[in-house]
Amino acid sequence: MEACPIPVVTVQTVPYDDQKPGNSGLRKKTMVFESKRNYLQNFIQSVLSSIDLRDRQGCTMVVGSDGRYFSRTAIEVIVQMAAANGIGRLVIGHNGILSTPAVSCIIRKIKAIGGIILTASHNPGGPGGDFGIKFNVANGGPAPDTVTDKIHQISRTLEEFAICPDLRIDLSRLGRQDFDLENKFKPFRVEIVDSVDVYLNLLRSIFDFSAIKGLLTGSDQLKIRIDAMNGVMGPYVRRILCDELGAPANSAVNCIPLEDFGGQHPDPSLTYAASLVEAMKGGEFGFGAAFDGDGDRYMILGQNGFFVNPSDSVAIIAANLPCIPYFQQMGVRGFARSMPTSTALDKVAKAMKVTLYETPTGWKFFGNLMDSGRCSLCGEESFGAGSDHIREKDGLWAVLTWLSIMAARKQSVEKIVRDHWARLGRNYYCRFDYEGVDQKAAFFMMRDLGAVITDKAFTSQKFAVGNSVYSVEKTDNFEYTDPVDGSVTKNQGLRIIFTDGSRIIFRLSLTGCAGATIRIYAESYERDPEKLNRETQAVLGPLIAIALKISEIHERTGRKGPTVIT
Ligand code: G6P
Ligand code: ZN
Repeated sequence: MEACPIPVVTVQTVPYDDQKPGNSGLRKKTMVFESKRNYLQNFIQSVLSSIDLRDRQGCTMVVGSDGRYFSRTAIEVIVQMAAANGIGRLVIGHNGILSTPAVSCIIRKIKAIGGIILTASHNPGGPGGDFGIKFNVANGGPAPDTVTDKIHQISRTLEEFAICPDLRIDLSRLGRQDFDLENKFKPFRVEIVDSVDVYLNLLRSIFDFSAIKGLLTGSDQLKIRIDAMNGVMGPYVRRILCDELGAPANSAVNCIPLEDFGGQHPDPSLTYAASLVEAMKGGEFGFGAAFDGDGDRYMILGQNGFFVNPSDSVAIIAANLPCIPYFQQMGVRGFARSMPTSTALDKVAKAMKVTLYETPTGWKFFGNLMDSGRCSLCGEESFGAGSDHIREKDGLWAVLTWLSIMAARKQSVEKIVRDHWARLGRNYYCRFDYEGVDQKAAFFMMRDLGAVITDKAFTSQKFAVGNSVYSVEKTDNFEYTDPVDGSVTKNQGLRIIFTDGSRIIFRLSLTGCAGATIRIYAESYERDPEKLNRETQAVLGPLIAIALKISEIHERTGRKGPTVIT
């Protein structure tokens, strides 16, 4: 115990009206957190106040960051405010480092009331980059709307916050640090834990580590290349893939978490993981993977840079779940995907006679399905996949799943994907992103397009592009009723579904920082074995042409094309 009690003070503040958490927490330019007076403190107070005082007193919370710039400062403030607000114990990653999946895992393991994750995911970091604060609840998953709405509500009228400005902790010292506070609350404890241990133990209970080790070591070893993108995953990759599973140390690159991710986007996509793509094209490696800044997203590449589309990846994982000990024991319940994710997973669900749930975009929507035992596996087009072992998407879990499948099937990445297409057909899929679009232009485009596509005349329309004719079967603005609590979420994206199963979807991103991001998703399904090897853009060209025409997106946004194509 410290010699004399630490003072708790109340500070007057002025509320902000823009602290509404999006799908992945409150994400803003770092500068906003750094330079707007009490911006961080206001939001943290709103998060803490959203927890009932009785539940707060003496409870445990988990805190971690992806190591980006401003995380240490933010953790210091969170500790001082948690203490002043009656939280009993904080469990924090060593040097503040915890991946998003690890936070979810620890919350569940130690039965914490929730956790705070400092990350802006795959967005760049640094003083000129982005910063974010996510709040996860007791099931380990992102806070549902009821909670984020409450936080937003509180933030709008906040007049003061409580803090212990003199409380200092040492993030580099593993173990307990106890503090005696000058208030009615019990002693406050901080516990600094190894960033990897608890999560590694969970993975050990899910996978057959010796099977994966057999694949990665020995005379005919699979050579892999793993890119941690200078994000949080470095320590996890080194410890789990190299030390535990035997991959040579030089298989893992960019493994030191950097505050600015080396000036790169820590985004596991063909665009931003270009150096991995290049390395894979050399043909030396049979398996490649990259992660995002906080380790929940992943990308898988095969030899020569063969790209596994994330929607295909989740479908292939689903079809091969029986390779994994966890699913041999637990069985396979339902599958879930976000609405814009391709329907490849639906084909697997049908073949396996398993229920498929289609949710809005946002990992939080999978929470109730998993908590109620309805869903074993979920995935999204945005490079996320995971199971009910935690309540976040989990990049390294996806990688170990792929390696387990390769070990069991003794096939290359490309062969596994092509066999899957041959068996269940191929869902050609792509996404166009228009980033940083004027908010109003985006809003009006979506509003007007919604009116056009839901008009009666539209639903009987046929579109002829080149040799292809597409007949509209169904259109709507996607709406979701949660089967567990009955809550209804509206306005989740404009869908045009054609009679051949092709789809065009338009939505506004809920994770952007500046302006609006419009996403257009196009998908078509091919069963003909002769047509499984085409160029995605060529196959989807006609659907994209229809999408551009009916939305007038270029005219309305002044853009000539998308910022990124996936
Ligand atoms: C976060 C969420 C995902 C979501 C992704 C893209 O990573 O956890 O569930 O798919 O953002 O969301 P957006 O709204 O930007 O398309
Ligand atoms: Zn992420």
